[in-house]
Amino acid sequence: MTRNENRASEFDQFSEGYRELLDRNVAISGETSEYFACYKARFIAEEVVPRPDCRILDYGCGIGLVCGQLKRRLPRARIDGYDVSRTSLDHLDATVRKEGTFTSDEGELGRDYDVVILANVLHHVALEGRLDTVSRAAELLGVPGKLVIFEHNPANPLTRRAVASCPFDKDARLLPPRETLRYLLQKEFRKIHLEYIVFFPRRLRWLRPLEPFLHWCPLGAQYVVTGNKA
Ligand SMILES: C[S@@+](CC[C@H](N)C(=O)[O-])C[C@H]1O[C@@H](n2cnc3c(N)ncnc32)[C@H](O)[C@@H]1O
Repeated sequence: MTRNENRASEFDQFSEGYRELLDRNVAISGETSEYFACYKARFIAEEVVPRPDCRILDYGCGIGLVCGQLKRRLPRARIDGYDVSRTSLDHLDATVRKEGTFTSDEGELGRDYDVVILANVLHHVALEGRLDTVSRAAELLGVPGKLVIFEHNPANPLTRRAVASCPFDKDARLLPPRETLRYLLQKEFRKIHLEYIVFFPRRLRWLRPLEPFLHWCPLGAQYVVTGNKA
């Protein structure tokens, strides 16, 4: 039994229409929630996983948008998910659910994941609980294992606007990259790396081939921090 198990999750109330709410919220970019989930899955498949049959945990997986895209790109990987919102887990795609463990009980998870992802989770955790959340996710990694944290970039005005109008972001507090980096440093991760991602809206999609050259530019809509467990 974990502490999170007993906590009613604010996301339970949004799980039913979560995808539609998110689609509406990201419409400002001309894309849907699928585009953002694909982006993250592609990053993990191309830049993070050590081998195609690795073990991945999506910590704060919600209704499994990223898990579904990961399964398509890495069909031989084992993909598990954890979320404090039980009802969100009820909305997972049946195929994804069948092939992994999806739970609100950390005790049911492995302790030797190759990759643990926290995708847009930490800005929903109160400031005083964030290091603990990173810590708990890190404990589930094997050695060597990689932690991957995606977050909204508070320096991007369109991101701030989208968050301000999103019903499930009402209590969200965005993390500047330096805060996320600090948690990995405090947990003694090695090879800590920051990249900015998601630069161009759909109407400028012809510029997207430039994105791999812009990872240094602090204007991406989101950012990703990775680190290796020591
Ligand atoms: C914005 S949603 C992101 C869901 C998913 N990662 C995605 O990218 O589609 C944030 C999720 O984090 C979960 N969450 C919030 N606090 C958490 C915590 N302390 N531990 C695990 N999950 C948490 C919420 O229940 C919610 O499902």
